[in-house]
Amino acid sequence: MTHPVLSALGIESTVSGTYLGQGEWSATTDAGSIARPAPATGEVLATVYGAGKADYETIVARAQAAFEVWRTTPAPRRGEAVRLCAEALRRNKDALGSLVSLEMGKIKAEGDGEVQEMIDIADFAVGLSRQLYGLTMHSERPGHRMYEQWHPLGLVGIVSAFNFPVAVWSWNAFVAAVCGDICIWKPSPKTPLTAIATMRICNEALKDAGFPDLFFLFNDAGQGLDRTLVADTRIPLISFTGSTAVGRIVGAEVAKRMGRSLLELGGNNAMIVDETADLKLAIPAIVFGAVGTAGQRCTSTRRLFVHESIHDRVLETLVSAYRQVEGKIGDPTDPATLMGPLIDQDAVRGYLDAIARAQAAGGTVATGGRALDDRPGNFVLPTIVTGLSPDAEIVQAETFAPILYVMPFRTLDEAIAMQNGVPQGLSSAIFTQNLKAAERFLSASGSDCGIANVNIGTSGAEIGGAFGGEKDTGGGRESGSDAWKVYMRRQTNTINYSDALPLAQGIKFEF
Ligand code: UN1
Repeated sequence: MTHPVLSALGIESTVSGTYLGQGEWSATTDAGSIARPAPATGEVLATVYGAGKADYETIVARAQAAFEVWRTTPAPRRGEAVRLCAEALRRNKDALGSLVSLEMGKIKAEGDGEVQEMIDIADFAVGLSRQLYGLTMHSERPGHRMYEQWHPLGLVGIVSAFNFPVAVWSWNAFVAAVCGDICIWKPSPKTPLTAIATMRICNEALKDAGFPDLFFLFNDAGQGLDRTLVADTRIPLISFTGSTAVGRIVGAEVAKRMGRSLLELGGNNAMIVDETADLKLAIPAIVFGAVGTAGQRCTSTRRLFVHESIHDRVLETLVSAYRQVEGKIGDPTDPATLMGPLIDQDAVRGYLDAIARAQAAGGTVATGGRALDDRPGNFVLPTIVTGLSPDAEIVQAETFAPILYVMPFRTLDEAIAMQNGVPQGLSSAIFTQNLKAAERFLSASGSDCGIANVNIGTSGAEIGGAFGGEKDTGGGRESGSDAWKVYMRRQTNTINYSDALPLAQGIKFEF
């Protein structure tokens, strides 16, 4: 029987994972399939057929044809398409939020929050569609005018991760759509159903409005089409969210063909809590940052540096907060639940392995430290480890699980050095009431991350800012601010309206 959440979104229990455009889903059934156990129950929700090579070619050909039309469609009209998607998402927020929760395992409030992020970025993109501004420059030559304009780039390949199975697509797709691009989506094989649902919601919204196909989708079930996409010279931009290890390969592959890549890779985010911090704010921020989404956000708090004068008190308060969370681990679709399961058994093994490595390096488990194998699903206890050196190998690595390493510090300089002393550079935060400490943390010699917050945790960024990070995080920026520029090509134009042909730099060339 089809799960009611799937039925509410019009998805059957055996379903194509490939949207070919023109209202057509692929009939391919011989290119592999994906049937994943739901993280909380182990129950297989549906079987999704993967795309074949011919499907991929159909998608690229149709996307190219759609681009011909879309690139000359006025940008505000392109915004109208995204506005329709936003309305459809509002209507489907509850159902899609539930499916995110069911398929990915994050709690329902966070599933709904993820759909809200989609709606927010859609609204942002609608406004942006009237603001794709270029600059004008003063020409050094008389009777000349110079300006720059931004043109649509072409096809955008979006490779997304399981942990934000739909929001990350929308940050890319809605902004790219108003920029005049056509998107081809390859979601994580761990979350094909939310991608199919999203595609249905958006395509249904666009159906009768006379727009070309803006959004294509394929799921890959072992055909290597993800590699084909990354290497495809017909796709000028690849936006990849995932691990640093895979991102390194994607970045190199795209660079080899002179393509553009937008990389959103791992984070190893730290929070500094100094001796002046307001603990009423800091404690919930730490717990949400480390335990929220069961530690599976790229912005999750993984390292906590606490001033030595309050270290023991903060640790004690955290341990008691964690014990309360322990009583609220379970079915992510139940509104009373605070922490759902990990995505799969591999993630549970990764969690256990990290704890074992932390202990081998001299760490002590202050709370948590084990999987809940008395029940189906991939449940673990949120965990705090103390007594490790910030340089310990396991502290330097991103483990996608609710494990927090707590370490004391004496001076702010020392805390900032420790916070920056990892390969990743995504998100960071300081809790302080000391203005000098806050400003020092945000200064050029402070946090080296793409995101640096004061009295706010490391996760839960708003869509209005540019999202992304430095170093092993990949350097990409997406979502708000001027992140749209990566989806367009810049053209510099110089116009001569005089009767002479003066050369730049005063060069004389007379004959
Ligand atoms: C991610 O984990 O890939 O800032 C993105 C946050 C969310 C996005 C996380 N808005 O935590």
